[in-house]
Amino acid sequence: MKILVAGGGGREHAIAWRLSRDAERHELFAAPGNAGMEGVAKCIDIKADDTERLPAWAKENGIDLVVVGPEAPLVKGLADELANAGIPVFGPVAAGARIEGSKSFAKEIMSAAGVPTGKAEVFTDVEAAKAALPGYGLPVVIKADGLAAGKGVVVAETLEDACAAIDDMLVANRFGAAGAQVLVEEFLHGEECSILAMVDGERAVLLPSSQDHKRVFDGDKGPNTGGMGAYSPAPVVDSGSLKFIHDKIVMPVVHELKSRGIVYHGILYAGLMVNENPDGPSPNSTVKNHLASSGSKINVVEFNARFGDPETEAVLPRIGGDFAKALLNAATGRLSEDDVKVEDLVAATVILASAGYPGEYAKGKPIGGLDAEAEGTVVFHCGTKRADGGIVTNGGRVLSVTGTGSTLREAVDRAYARADAISFDGKFCRRDIAARALGRG
Ligand code: AMP
Ligand code: GLY
Repeated sequence: MKILVAGGGGREHAIAWRLSRDAERHELFAAPGNAGMEGVAKCIDIKADDTERLPAWAKENGIDLVVVGPEAPLVKGLADELANAGIPVFGPVAAGARIEGSKSFAKEIMSAAGVPTGKAEVFTDVEAAKAALPGYGLPVVIKADGLAAGKGVVVAETLEDACAAIDDMLVANRFGAAGAQVLVEEFLHGEECSILAMVDGERAVLLPSSQDHKRVFDGDKGPNTGGMGAYSPAPVVDSGSLKFIHDKIVMPVVHELKSRGIVYHGILYAGLMVNENPDGPSPNSTVKNHLASSGSKINVVEFNARFGDPETEAVLPRIGGDFAKALLNAATGRLSEDDVKVEDLVAATVILASAGYPGEYAKGKPIGGLDAEAEGTVVFHCGTKRADGGIVTNGGRVLSVTGTGSTLREAVDRAYARADAISFDGKFCRRDIAARALGRG
């Protein structure tokens, strides 16, 4: 098959790398790709959100399948344009991608489909939003409705902080149009996990569970980032939970969308909060733990319309079988359970970032040690570029280093050994990836 991966980060590198490992040899392209992806795909100089040139290029070049990585092109209608050009695409149309692009739309779908999530209200009026706060207790969560690059969520511990967040979004217009509506949402106690469901419009097959590490520093301290590491599987999700997530969360959403004329193909990523023990201590707050108002121990925090990053770098190395066939079958409405084979492996991914991230950081620092291959490891490029014959840093998240093994301990040790052999000026990483799962024993 001739397959084009749209995007150029660690997630897209992992998708292209995994496709390169299918038994069938594919001809792989990436738009725009990155320095690391050159090893597995031909990089085309077209931006992933160029909804005109990308479909035209794909048509001219006889592409059999396009796999879209990031959300922005999907929200902008890339999948619609590709479908109009008759090209199978793994990624939802814009109307489906709204499930990520608008948090109020996601809440409306969940409410209509009876999916457990935190109670929430949507406001455009500052005073009305503030007046609602006492009904939510503390902490309370304030969210910008639209896409805000992961920065539009404030977990407020005090009423003052909640009011300040509302002012920031509705009065100071900090997120522009994305923050013109805000959600006031119930705080959910528990441990987070990510479920990536492959959806073919009608059916869904869940990929293995994973857990992301969103805060920049060890011990979940510091500001939120795009993700500092991940591991798969996440022990907080047992097989009973997986069935619940498939039957009571993913499928009702797929059917609700379909009833509105939205046939969803691609990944439906459910960000979930699992409250294993509502009578015990809260894993994510000093405030006394309690069951969510939905009455469910598993609640949706958010939906995304795409593969997670860095979850993909931990999940895909565990997927066996013919991955391209699974993606194509999802894109064309023929997905079956048998399309997804999970290998008996555990994976951990460590992000190597540039000093200062998620704030300001330097670029252009030469990277050493990339060739030091080691068993059970793979390095995905997130923010790199080729310069003067070498590879230099070109982003806040620079590299994604994945270790696999038969135990989580082995996977984590391999990932860190490989990560430590890589050098660049200002390199830092979290040292506690998967600590929560390792602590379970
Ligand atoms: P989101 O962009 O919606 O995933 O939110 C970013 C992060 O904020 C999540 O990963 C959670 O850690 C936290 N968060 C969002 N909503 C809630 C909630 N209702 N209860 C507790 N934490 C939340
Ligand atoms: N790792 C979080 C995300 O992809 O949204």
